[in-house]
Amino acid sequence: MTLPKTITLCMGSSCFSRGNGRNLPRIQQFLKRHGLDPHLPLKGCRCGSVCTRGPNIWADGLLLPGLSDAALDAFLASLLPVPPNSQVPTPNS
Ligand code: FES
Repeated sequence: MTLPKTITLCMGSSCFSRGNGRNLPRIQQFLKRHGLDPHLPLKGCRCGSVCTRGPNIWADGLLLPGLSDAALDAFLASLLPVPPNSQVPTPNS
């Protein structure tokens, strides 16, 4: 994934209680640990009117519903650059 310009967490009561209350510090810690925090601002918003799909997070306006626990870990891992030695070899390499 290309690093988004912003990540927005819904901090409405439904998304907060569904997981964004825990997701916010997890995301902050992840970004800081990997040196991404100066490049990827986090924003909060009020209810985005898709409460039943929460906890809701938007990456550059793209809704990523239900991100918590393993799904959040996978999303955060996708933000990291792929190490050069982990690229899939081509058939002729
Ligand atoms: S509280 Fe998050 S979409 Fe409604």
